[in-house]
Amino acid sequence: MFLDKITTVSDEFDNDLAGVKALKNLEELRIKYLSRNGIVSGLFEKLKDVPKEEKPAIGNKLNALRSYVSDNFNKVKIKLEEEGIGANKKIDLTLPGSQRQLGSKHILTQTVDEIKYIFKGMGFSTFEGPELESDYYNFEALNFAPDHPARDMQDTYFVAKDYLLRTHTSPVQVRVMKNYKPPIRAIMPGRVYRSEAVSARSYCMFHQVEGLVIDTDITFAELKGTLVFFAKQFYGSQLKYRFRASFFPFTEPSAEMDITCYICGGKGCKICKHTGWLEILGCGMVDPNVLINCGIDPEKYRGYAFGMGIERTAMLKYNVQDIRIFFENDFRFLKQF
Ligand code: PHE
Repeated sequence: MFLDKITTVSDEFDNDLAGVKALKNLEELRIKYLSRNGIVSGLFEKLKDVPKEEKPAIGNKLNALRSYVSDNFNKVKIKLEEEGIGANKKIDLTLPGSQRQLGSKHILTQTVDEIKYIFKGMGFSTFEGPELESDYYNFEALNFAPDHPARDMQDTYFVAKDYLLRTHTSPVQVRVMKNYKPPIRAIMPGRVYRSEAVSARSYCMFHQVEGLVIDTDITFAELKGTLVFFAKQFYGSQLKYRFRASFFPFTEPSAEMDITCYICGGKGCKICKHTGWLEILGCGMVDPNVLINCGIDPEKYRGYAFGMGIERTAMLKYNVQDIRIFFENDFRFLKQF
């Protein structure tokens, strides 16, 4: 009698389950069979009225019924849930694809690459030297008098006696001249360090590109021609420029090259200190003393050299107002380039 009842409930459940079309109906089914007041619990209630000797067998059957009902219930539940997810997952082929963020070279690297590329076209090779230098390479071989103010602790980070963080890329000139025979056409990019107060216009570390040409018949006119060609390639052919006489211990004569201010176009403004001009590099004919220090015969060879700041160059070209932003790794700045 009780066993028949169990079979009936099982069949009824099969029937009900077959008719379930949505999760909502399934919930009704759960309440009907599996809730605390549901049919299955009701049968367990009645187990106490069953004669003692029949209890184990009927108890077994009841447990089996409960497992059967809940297993099948769960199967259908999972199936309906998956169909529900699938329904929301329709693909719209007309939507644009998700964009992948690509990294890019730092703007200073890009600037050095561009400078290298322009000089490569004029036959220059690239060399690099150490950032930790000796006083000899950074100063002495470059004809700095022993009491030159640039040797003062104020400009130079000394690491030990006679060892320092290079203050410019010019020591690489010395290394190239000592290691290679003329003719030499080289550019030498790298980091340099100066103990300066950090501000919008100066930083304790920055980058330079050095240039050096040594051959038998080098003239100041070639120096000018090369630098003007470079500047027009880099800043645009409309560029106006001028050379001003200057002084460096390692070049004679020495000059600085200016270009018209990119902000005011030459009229005069705060950026160009009302001169209309901005300095972009230092240059000159290699001093014969430097050639001698590097084992090159100044009677036979002559040369020119130049050096420019990369940050400054990039600031001019891309109108960047504060040098510190190059080193802050602010993604909003970096991803513009
Ligand atoms: N080394 C100089 C500086 O740092 C630049 C320079 C290089 C000038 C080569 C002349 C020739 O200011």
